[in-house]
Amino acid sequence: MPLDIIIGAQWGDEGKGGITDLVAARADIVARFGGGDNAGHTLTIAGEIFKLHLIPSGIVREGIICLIGSGVVVNPAVFLRELDALEARGVDISPDRLKVSHNAHLITPAHVALDKALEQQRGDEAIGTTQRGIGPAYTDKTSRSGIRADSLADSEGLGDLIQAHIRAKNEVLTKIYGVAGLDATAVAAQYAEYARRMAPYLANGPALLDDALQNGKTVLAEGAQGTFLDLDHGTYPFVTSSSSSAGGALIGLGVGPKMVGRIIGITKAFTSRVGSGPFPTELSGEAAVRLRGTGSKPWDEFGTTTGRPRRVGWLDLVMLDHARRINSLTELVITKLDILSGLEEVPVCVGYQLNGEQLKGFPADLRTLALCRPIYETLPGWEEDIMQVKRMSALPANARQYVQFVSETVGVPVSIVSVGPGREQVIEV
Ligand code: GDP
Ligand code: IMO
Ligand code: MG
Repeated sequence: MPLDIIIGAQWGDEGKGGITDLVAARADIVARFGGGDNAGHTLTIAGEIFKLHLIPSGIVREGIICLIGSGVVVNPAVFLRELDALEARGVDISPDRLKVSHNAHLITPAHVALDKALEQQRGDEAIGTTQRGIGPAYTDKTSRSGIRADSLADSEGLGDLIQAHIRAKNEVLTKIYGVAGLDATAVAAQYAEYARRMAPYLANGPALLDDALQNGKTVLAEGAQGTFLDLDHGTYPFVTSSSSSAGGALIGLGVGPKMVGRIIGITKAFTSRVGSGPFPTELSGEAAVRLRGTGSKPWDEFGTTTGRPRRVGWLDLVMLDHARRINSLTELVITKLDILSGLEEVPVCVGYQLNGEQLKGFPADLRTLALCRPIYETLPGWEEDIMQVKRMSALPANARQYVQFVSETVGVPVSIVSVGPGREQVIEV
């Protein structure tokens, strides 16, 4: 059986890719269930860095089947580029082990152009999207005018479908946003070529997963984004356009709740966010640089997808508790604990204050959240470099205390602590 789910417990970039790669050692299938190439998942294996946007992080483990599930929006150009890059590095990307669900939706250049135009129009209110066409592709999906991956198998109808889609979007691009339209014939020709290469990867995702689960196999759902970017439960409108919390795994893969085993929430030992929106524990100046880094190390806080510096702040346990609630987390994984080494004291947000009163939980509306002031508990820091530590007992006592404090406050056991980007830089608790 089960379906185990890996979820970002914050605003994305918690280190889901690396933990997926680790947990995949005991899985048979790794499946992405939502989002698209707005995700950027970094794996460091024997010093080699892999940056994946669309293809599941299980791909670098031999023998694992990878599925891009029905809930994902797929840009074929990105899919094929990623495929080629992996193949060039000796990774097996044959259709025997990599599949794309028929029901996944396609991102087109028109979606990308619309995403950019919309952001431009929002001006100061811009969401700070990754400009990968995610929002417009999901908009088409929900308005039932999207293009599904199975169209790639329909060589007769695909050309007309793409041309009609581009022409319709050109109306909006040129007449509403006043930007250039696209060449429908050229895009259709491009998609004919994508179809030729991608058709062999198409599969019945739900049937594949059901067969595996019925036969005692373990499926690992790899989350993208994070709980606070979830369309329903995140800091709307500063969210993505998909369900990036645990419930999204079931819808996005086509598996029922009975099959769920572990629900693993990934959190950094601090907090980061890319894009706009409120962020109660955000730091600025020197304190921010201390957590973000300057970009000199591969794991410094600069976006994998966009290269933007990430906003950073202290760990927020009000948020983590909300993530526990939304996802029914069975365990927590804390990543980047090593980044806190050398701090004399580590503040952790344990509550929010609003107009002199302490709030009970994460506020439901954004206006309230923007006014909240964090209430900190200050924990003692540790000096030691912990990047080579392999056991909890070998961590400095204050680092152990930090992990324990998080676990006890949120009320969820911590199963893994990671102390570096490498596959082996993890402590299984
Ligand atoms: P994801 O989107 O959740 O998969 O996370 P990203 O890959 O976007 O960002 C996480 C970054 O932190 C990557 O550069 C990882 O290699 C790095 N990383 C993950 N875990 C650790 C850790 O424990 N310590 C350090 N120093 N870096 C880590
Ligand atoms: P991973 O999987 C961090 C953010 C964008 C923006 C908002 C909407 O690497 O954790 P979108 O392009 O989705 O319409 O942008 O969501 N965002 C992410 N932030 N990590 C991600 O993915 C993200 N995917 C989207 O920065 O604020
Ligand atoms: Mg990322």
